Amino acid sequence: MAEDLSIKHGSKQEQYENLLPQVKALLDGEPDLIANLANVAAALKEQFGWLWIGFYLVKNDELVLGPFQGPVACTRIKKGRGVCGTSWQQAKTLIVPDVEKFPGHIACSSLSKSEIVIPLFKNDIVFGVLDVDSDVLNDFDETDQSYLEKIIALINL
Ligand code: SME
Repeated sequence: MAEDLSIKHGSKQEQYENLLPQVKALLDGEPDLIANLANVAAALKEQFGWLWIGFYLVKNDELVLGPFQGPVACTRIKKGRGVCGTSWQQAKTLIVPDVEKFPGHIACSSLSKSEIVIPLFKNDIVFGVLDVDSDVLNDFDETDQSYLEKIIALINL
């Protein structure tokens, strides 16, 4: 496919609907996980412009920074720590409307105000998380959860 993303303005849902088939085409037939995570992070950044979008991958019982878009970030996160480590531990998506109110939130950037973290599963085991940070309070809701989970499901494992 052409490597240029077609960006759409409009409602959140319209933006995701525009993005989904393009991400599918980007990932189609490519087996390399890192390449695919890198392109998913870039596509989300291009469409939505959020502060930080990236992946942490489980390695030796820690989350280790993977492909991302945005400012430099913490490299390692322990299980149960921060939003990412809690999402990993609980094996569920966490939406945090105000990061300052999340006990133990790890502030990689002082600009981050709200966050969504979605676990990546392989054979029912969490092997990583997608973390998205916004510089706007209360920026994520069930629409983001639903579409980001759909996008993650497109990644070849
Ligand atoms: N805020 C996250 C840490 C990762 S950065 O936001 C990129 C957390 O509390 O787990």
